[in-house]
Parts: sequence; structure tokens; C-alpha cells
Amino acid sequence: MSKRNAAIFASGTGSNFEAIMEAGDLSCDIVLLICDKPKATVIQKAEKYQVPTFVFNPKDYGSKEEYEKVLVEKLKEANISWIFLAGYMRIVGSVLLQAYEGRIVNIHPSLLPDFPGKDAIDQAYHAGVKTTGVTVHYIDSGIDTGPIIAQEKVEVEENETLESLEEKIHHVEHQLYPRVIREIVK
Ligand code: GRF
Repeated sequence: MSKRNAAIFASGTGSNFEAIMEAGDLSCDIVLLICDKPKATVIQKAEKYQVPTFVFNPKDYGSKEEYEKVLVEKLKEANISWIFLAGYMRIVGSVLLQAYEGRIVNIHPSLLPDFPGKDAIDQAYHAGVKTTGVTVHYIDSGIDTGPIIAQEKVEVEENETLESLEEKIHHVEHQLYPRVIREIVK
């Protein structure tokens, strides 16, 4: 059976993008990167892996509906079945949600429902929790509220710094996301 096509949405560094590309047999092909930040480093990573990229600037559009219609067109052209958000710093709107209901997945660097939204690692660190972690979940119309697929804990040690915690969390993300993708796309 031929593999399904998937797209990654990212806005930043793209370490998760890279981990997914390096993971080997994913049971889907990553055939498109969608990026909303023309200067993001993830774009160079996509070049390295020869993944076609669609870069857009939301400011060039009148509304979220308008640019999401364009994104849906691009996704359909590339025959995309699954969308994996990997540091995509925008709230997914109704146009994209309706077109890909139940097939948009996100990774978030905390144990949801704790610390949703931006700077989750920083939030958890400054809240002084002993345990935080990583969540992979489906997207719904809320911010980091969709059904949880998998979670992995990360302990915060006595002498932990924000930097060392970030490093531990990213390490877990890079293992967990490809594993979950492999499972759900099967
Ligand atoms: C990750 O921590 C991810 O959980 C969050 O955004 C960050 C993206 O990092 N949603 P990178 O661009 O994959 O390095």
C-alpha cells in the first residue's frame, strides 16, 4: 500500500522537523513544509531534506480565513492527508480545521492541561513544578486543548536551570513525536 502524504507546519528553528525527517520509516511521507515566517531556520532544514516549502506572510492577507484557504489549496495539491504542527506559532482557524478535522496533530512542551500557550517550559520552570513533560495532541479550536494522544514526563532536578530543562524536554520531543506519528498514521 502506498504511504500517505503529510505536511509539517513550523515557524522557528525546526529541531522537531529535523527529528521527524531523521526518524526513518514513519509510515507517511513528509512532502511539504508550511512556514509563516520567511526568515525561519526551518526553511533551510527543509532545503537540506529536499522538502518543498510554502512560505507565506500572514500580513499579506486580509484575514486568517483568507490565508488558510490558500494553505488548504496547497495541501490538496500535494495530496496531504495529515498535518503535523511542530512549533507553528499560530492558532489554527476554522478553514483549516474543517478541511483536516481529526488529522491535525501538535506537540507541546508541557504536560497538558498544565501550561498551555506560549513559553510553556518557562512557565513550568518558574511555577516550580517537580515534573513537567511533553504532550502530543490533536488540534481543536482551543489553545492546546484538543484530545491527548501521548504524554511523556520529564523530572525537574534540584539544580535544574531553564536551559537544561529546555534541553531535556526537546530531547524527549525528538523521540516522542516521530514515534507517535508512526503509530497514528498506520
Ligand atoms: C517545541 O518545543 C514544540 O513543542 C513547540 O515549539 C517548539 C518548536 O521547536 N510547539 P523546534 O522549532 O521544533 O525546534
